[in-house]
Amino acid sequence: MTWSRKILLPLVGLYLSVVAVSAQNKASLFHESAAHKQERMQWWTDARFGMFIHWGLYSLGARHEWLKHNEHMTNEEYQKYFEIFNPDQWDPKKWAAEAKAAGMKYAVLTTKHHDGFCLFDSKYTDYKATNTPAHRDLVREYVNAFRAQGLKVGFYYSLLDWHHPDYTMDDVHPLTQVDTSRANYDRLNKGRDMAKYRQYLRDQITELLTNYGKIDVLWLDWTWGKDDKRGKHADDWGAVELIKMIRKLQPGIIVNNRLGLDEEYSDGGDFVTPEQVSSKELEGYKGKTWETCQTFSGSWGYYRDETSWKTHRQLLDLLITSVANGGNLILNVGPTARGEFDYRATHALDSLAYWIHANSRSIYDCTYAPASFTPPAGTKLTYNPSTRRLYVHLYDFTPRTTLTLPGYAGRVKYAELLNDESEIQLTTAGNDVVLTLPKVRPPYDIPVIELLLK
Ligand code: GLC
Repeated sequence: MTWSRKILLPLVGLYLSVVAVSAQNKASLFHESAAHKQERMQWWTDARFGMFIHWGLYSLGARHEWLKHNEHMTNEEYQKYFEIFNPDQWDPKKWAAEAKAAGMKYAVLTTKHHDGFCLFDSKYTDYKATNTPAHRDLVREYVNAFRAQGLKVGFYYSLLDWHHPDYTMDDVHPLTQVDTSRANYDRLNKGRDMAKYRQYLRDQITELLTNYGKIDVLWLDWTWGKDDKRGKHADDWGAVELIKMIRKLQPGIIVNNRLGLDEEYSDGGDFVTPEQVSSKELEGYKGKTWETCQTFSGSWGYYRDETSWKTHRQLLDLLITSVANGGNLILNVGPTARGEFDYRATHALDSLAYWIHANSRSIYDCTYAPASFTPPAGTKLTYNPSTRRLYVHLYDFTPRTTLTLPGYAGRVKYAELLNDESEIQLTTAGNDVVLTLPKVRPPYDIPVIELLLK
C-alpha cells in the first residue's frame, strides 16, 4: 500500500462513520455551539430552584385548573368567573418576597392557561384581566415585582385554548368530552380555522416577548405524542416558525421542550420537563438538561378541598434529588382568587426558607458528585465543581453515631456541618473516612455535611 492509500483509506472510513452518525442524529434549527448554549443557560443551571405560579379564572372554581374540561363547561358556563375575578388581596411584591425567601431564583407565571384567559393586556382578545373587575395587566405587575427582587422572570403560555373560536377540537377540549364521535368533532369544528389560531399564538407570544422587557424563560404547554390521533402536533402550532420567532425576539431566552419538536430536532427546546415524577425516577435524567415541575398538592391551580399535600421532607427530597442528578426543581403555587398564597403553601414555603437559609450552599451552583464518590447509605450527595466541595445530605441522622465515607481516605481536607460551620471530626480507617456526628440533632429535617476536598 502506498503512503497515500494508507492515509486516505482510514480517512474515508472516518468520513463514512461520521456521515452515518450524523444521519442518525436529529436535525438542528439553530446550530448553536455547545459552549454557547452552556453560557446562555448558566444562570438557570446555577439557580436549580424556581417557583411556578398557576393563577387564573380557575382559581375561583378552586377545584383544579382543568375544571372547564372536567365538568365539560361551555364558554358561557365558565363566564361567571370572568365577571367577578377581582384579586383584592393581591400584592405581587409579597409573592416575590416569599419566593426569594424560600430560595427560589426564578419564577414562571401562567400568562394564559388552557382556559384561554389572559392575565396580560393583549390587543388580540377581550378575554383578559383588564376586562374583568381586576382592571389591570397582572403580568406587568408580576414582572416588575419579581425583577425588583432580583429574580429571573418566566412566562408560561398554554398552546391549548379552550375559549378561542378558531381553536379546533381534540380529545381534551371541554366540548368533546360527552360525545367523542367524529361527527361531533366535525359539527363543532364548523367555522373554526386553526390557521387563524396559529396567527393568534404568534401575535400573543410576540406581545409577551416585546412588551415586558427581557424575559428569561418561556414555558410553552403542551403537545400530544406523535401517535395521538386526536391531539395536536408541532405543525398545528406552526412550531418551527414559532421557535424561530421566539429566539429572534429574545435571543437569550430559555425555552422548554413542549412545542413537540423533540423527535425531529436536537434544539427544539432547551430542557426536558418531567412532570410530577418521583424522586426515584429523577435518577434516570442524569446527563440531560432538565427541570422537574411539581405541585405542593395534586393540582396546579388553587384547589381548596385537596388534601394530598406533600410533606416538608418530601419537598426537600425533591430539591436535593434534583440537584443530586444535575437538574432543576420548579415548585408550583396556586394562589387563591383573592391573590394570596394559601396558608398551606405559605407554611411549606416558610419551612423551605428555614432550611435553605442554612443549607443553600449544597444547592446553588451544584450538580451530581463525581462517580468516584459513593454516597454512604442513607445519604444523597451534591457537588460544587468550582469550590470542590461535596455535600452529604443526612436522610437518616442518628445523633452520637459515626458515618463512614467509603473509599474517601486521602481525599477529604476538612468536614463541617453546613448550617453552622461547626467542625465535624474525622479519622481515617483503611480506605474510609469516619465522621463523628454531632451529639445533638441539628434542627433541620435533612442536615448537611460539607466536605472540603483535597
Ligand atoms: C400539564 C397540565 C397543566 C399544567 C402543566 C404544568 O400539562 O395540562 O394543567 O399547567 O402540566 O406542567
